[in-house]
Amino acid sequence: MRTDTGQIVHLADYRPTDFVLERVDLTFELDPQATRLESRLIFHRREGVDASAPLVLDGDELVLTELRLDQNEMPASQYDLSPDQLVIRDLPGSEPFEVTVITTINPEANTQLMGLYRTNGVYCTQCEAEGFRRITYFPDRPDVLAPYTVTIIADKAANPVLLSNGNFLGGGNYDEGRHFAAWFDPFPKPSYLFALVAGDLGVVEDTFITMSEREVALKIYVEHGKEDRAAYAMDALKRSMKWDEEVFGREYDLNIFMIVAVSDFNMGAMENKGLNVFNDKYVLADPETATDQDYANIEAIIAHEYFHNWTGNRITCRDWFQLCLKEGLTVYRDHEFSADQRSRAVKRIAEVRHLKAEQFQEDGGPLAHPVRPTAYREINNFYTTTVYEKGSEVTRMIATILGKDGFKKGMDLYFERHDGEAATVEDFVKSFEDANSVDLKQFSLWYHQAGTPLVTASGIYDAVAKTFTLSLEQMIPATPGQSTKQPMHIPLSYALIQDNGALLDAPKVSGGQVTGDVLHLTEKAQVFVFENVPTRPVLSLNRSFSAPINLDFKQSTEDLVRIARHDTDLFARWQALTDLALPNLLQAAKDAREGKAISCDPVFISTLLEAAADEALEPAFRAQALALPSEADIARELGSNIDPDAIHKGRQAILKAIAESGQSVFERLFNTMKPEGAFSPDAASAGKRALRNSALGYLAYVTGGTERAAKAFADADNMTDMVQALTVLAHRFPEDAATAEALATFVKRFENNPLVLDKWFALQATIPGGDTLNRVNALMEHPLYVATNPNRVRSLVGSLAFANPTAFNRADGEGYRLLGAQVTQIDPRNPQLAARLLTAMRSWRALDASRADHARAALLEIDRAPKLSTDVRDLIERMLK
Ligand code: PHE
Ligand code: ZN
Repeated sequence: MRTDTGQIVHLADYRPTDFVLERVDLTFELDPQATRLESRLIFHRREGVDASAPLVLDGDELVLTELRLDQNEMPASQYDLSPDQLVIRDLPGSEPFEVTVITTINPEANTQLMGLYRTNGVYCTQCEAEGFRRITYFPDRPDVLAPYTVTIIADKAANPVLLSNGNFLGGGNYDEGRHFAAWFDPFPKPSYLFALVAGDLGVVEDTFITMSEREVALKIYVEHGKEDRAAYAMDALKRSMKWDEEVFGREYDLNIFMIVAVSDFNMGAMENKGLNVFNDKYVLADPETATDQDYANIEAIIAHEYFHNWTGNRITCRDWFQLCLKEGLTVYRDHEFSADQRSRAVKRIAEVRHLKAEQFQEDGGPLAHPVRPTAYREINNFYTTTVYEKGSEVTRMIATILGKDGFKKGMDLYFERHDGEAATVEDFVKSFEDANSVDLKQFSLWYHQAGTPLVTASGIYDAVAKTFTLSLEQMIPATPGQSTKQPMHIPLSYALIQDNGALLDAPKVSGGQVTGDVLHLTEKAQVFVFENVPTRPVLSLNRSFSAPINLDFKQSTEDLVRIARHDTDLFARWQALTDLALPNLLQAAKDAREGKAISCDPVFISTLLEAAADEALEPAFRAQALALPSEADIARELGSNIDPDAIHKGRQAILKAIAESGQSVFERLFNTMKPEGAFSPDAASAGKRALRNSALGYLAYVTGGTERAAKAFADADNMTDMVQALTVLAHRFPEDAATAEALATFVKRFENNPLVLDKWFALQATIPGGDTLNRVNALMEHPLYVATNPNRVRSLVGSLAFANPTAFNRADGEGYRLLGAQVTQIDPRNPQLAARLLTAMRSWRALDASRADHARAALLEIDRAPKLSTDVRDLIERMLK
């Protein structure tokens, strides 16, 4: 573990390296405890750099075995060595020279899962962001690009498969039962994209013919016996490759593309050039073991990593401050891909739900930071929802502002200008400016100002003048390190809906820039006037969530009902239903807290049920409508003095009221929404299952709920239905014998499938109520729980902390202490996992006073640990500030 040095990296300090790396040649002799790596690096001094400047290489917990300069052993006087740096002096002037670094690595002892490690007997690497320096001394920064040749030597019986980046050069037998394989990656890349995999793995093969008719070999490596479960991932890969050609004009460049699924991985997946490494949960699927959500995730993540080949690999980041350059853009690309493959509106609703739940929460708390930060202490802590999801939203706004063609022109120019380079956010924005002759200076504030803008809107209709006047005002809240903000460019898609439900066609508008159905809010306060409006219209604003903002627009129930019924933008209809639900949920939380009776507006209920029953609407949309704002959403709306128990109680009462009014609707949906024929993971079938399972959830609030759920569990012929039924049983009837029985049946049936066990752990960790802490403690002792596997830990501890507000925030503070103990226990072994779990406490200040006290005490307890990683130290300090 790297313990904290307190050093902060500043964007303003960026400067290029003194030496240019020309070539990298690596030879690995793999051994579980003593892998030998000979790394040969050719450098030359950059023009204009002082002849006395030393070569500085990064390291992390390394053992140096040998060091040579142009093949001669280097005298100790020529270099300074520390565990995290190798500084070499007295190097040639402008002539290229070769440095040979030989290190010995212990993959088996690597529990951080950064650098070269072992997972289930397989050698595997993870180098982003700064993992390569755990393999060898190297200029480990993204602006150092070179072609790599990699030779892997290993025991043949144990490691029949030897993989690295690029194209396969050749291989053969070596000595003493060993064999070797050599790979060459001609595309210059930074070290964070390096990968090596070796072991005994099964493979699924296919081919793809590119737009210029080159044949690419596709290979997905999985554990033996799991090959059948890689079929969907392979299909998603081929669709991704095709889509990137059609929509972005991007063709794959090597003659082979490989994916390896591993079971111990800190993140979702990694885009190493030509050799993506995946958390197996995002590769493996079949109807018996994967839910519809699993299929959708696999499709999205396969696409995401593949799309990185151009946005991230061919054009990479100059420094880690530019992380959103590859991540925000690539998330935008995978969102668009999924929208094209599935239902665009439903996809958008799911995206916005996620954005608000995660990014808005981050942006409103102590960990808020700009999409393009200017300082960090630990880069691992900046793989955030702000960089990824808000970064994607910023890209989406560029597309909204410039239009489809303008966006395409900008992207094309970006690829043309920067292919093979390490670029910056400024380079990216400039491509759009130059391609479209526009100025995006004000727009760029989205990269630099943290915090979710609040837009306040109010409208007045003048029946005599036939005008509708819309007043808008924007406010960007203060965030850590940024107390004052400038007004931003906020693109707001709108529609005016008339009495008869029709949208007013292209009204005349004044007061600011308007393009198509988009109002451009650029001032702090701005007034738009619409002319020739025959009757009082209902304004639908921020349709499709055109800008990632909070909107304060007081609309009457009647107006919201009109939007919910008539807007042509399905997202806006969903938003209106949510806006109808929220005041009821907020009031219910308040009443629950004060011990008052809880009621629900019948107009909201009938509008919701009307949508649920509307055969003209796609089932997936109706399921989204029925999924009310979550307890976390309600907490975010409240903003302060939060009592999660009251929120839960209030929300349960509203769900019950809806269930009672809608019983016949839900019964009909439950009985009719079963997709016909054999299981298919397609979006339409998944939508039907989602709606049917949502109905099952509501029916748990009326008589016969337990029996119905128990029967649904027994009848389930796919994992989606099975998990939903089991979740209803566990969450609504945790003490019922039927629940205990179903949980036991499930774990027995799937005891050999860790990914399915994760669902079993997660659904128990999310049972509402304080008793769940005892259950989680007991499950941590379960023989099938593996405390060193990140997926298991996230499914149990992560689900509790991130997705169970009543248990995690138990009034006596025990939930925070449980998390704190896990964080300090995991930190020495795997700092990234520990830090990620700790972010569950990022909104602790919004809790009621007593809970906040407990939370602070738990944070201070972690703070007192004798040794903390930089990862955890950085978070703790920002959260306590
Ligand atoms: N770059 C990976 C992705 O696409 C995420 C990742 C970051 C994986 C760091 C491992 C380590 O999005
Ligand atoms: Zn990514």
